[in-house]
Amino acid sequence: MKRVLTGIKPSGEIQLGNYLGMIKEIIDMQNKYEVLLMIADLHAQTVPYNPKRLKILTYDLAKSLIALGINPKKTILFKQSDVPAHLYLSWVLTCISPLGDLMRMHEFKEQSERYKKEGVGAGILLYPVLMAADILIYNADIVPVGEDQRQHLELTRELARRFNARFGKFFKIPEIYIQKETAKIMSLNDPNKKMSKSIPEGCLEIFDSEKNIKEKILKAVTDSGNEVKYDPINKPAISNLMTIYKYLTKKSYSEIEEEFKGKGYYEFKLRIIEAFFDYFKEARNIKKQIKNKDIEKILKDGANKANKIANKNLNIILKKVGLR
Ligand code: TRP
Repeated sequence: MKRVLTGIKPSGEIQLGNYLGMIKEIIDMQNKYEVLLMIADLHAQTVPYNPKRLKILTYDLAKSLIALGINPKKTILFKQSDVPAHLYLSWVLTCISPLGDLMRMHEFKEQSERYKKEGVGAGILLYPVLMAADILIYNADIVPVGEDQRQHLELTRELARRFNARFGKFFKIPEIYIQKETAKIMSLNDPNKKMSKSIPEGCLEIFDSEKNIKEKILKAVTDSGNEVKYDPINKPAISNLMTIYKYLTKKSYSEIEEEFKGKGYYEFKLRIIEAFFDYFKEARNIKKQIKNKDIEKILKDGANKANKIANKNLNIILKKVGLR
């Protein structure tokens, strides 16, 4: 069975763009593949953060994932920091990572610029190397990520090739899996920008209060027309809302156009709100019932399974590089 690995940073609530672009895919993959889903708490440390909040966000993320349909009986759900082999391999890969390549990563440039005032540590430069280690330590076949992670994954593939060439073949070259259409859920506030926490008004968080969600959808930008029609070039805001509605209702664009023929944008928005709560009602209820104690047990169990696979591979790797 093919092995899938991906990671999510515990840096805030799950938003609709993440869910449709990646989490939903992973939930579907649980039945077809062996899935390892990692909470990337070590990556969360690469920018200024609050330790108490990191722990809260980690548990909260695990609860959200389970509520949305990650089944810990099928998926190995674990915390990155619970598997030390990631860090060990990360060092081995650091030593074969071209410094120039790391300095050319978009995310490195953006983040080091963004946190220039506070000053960032070298973790931000080594971020993609740790990511490569997360993947390669399990010899994962498939890595589902958002489009923004493509460059990091290309580096992972390059590091795997380099390692194999220098120390003898061990790593598989992992396949990058990017969900094309849903990877492009745009901000409700600005259809030219991706939905993200950096524009909170345009970002729908799945477990946010009912009031906030309604407000954000009602305030979503539209255009000066009144026709619900799929036309990403001329009607990017409405087309984005249609994509969201399409996924929430499983209707096609033409069915949606038909549904709202002769009706205005306000009515369309009211239906999106309804569809959102229909879709996520169950998850929103389940999340409230999950206790920290449940999560502790699930993560511990996940860490045990992940450590078993990782340590076995680490042993072989250490022999190959001359450390054993
Ligand atoms: N950097 C990824 C993100 O921000 C999270 C991540 C960390 C990851 N390690 C990974 C994703 C390994 C895939 C594989 O989305």
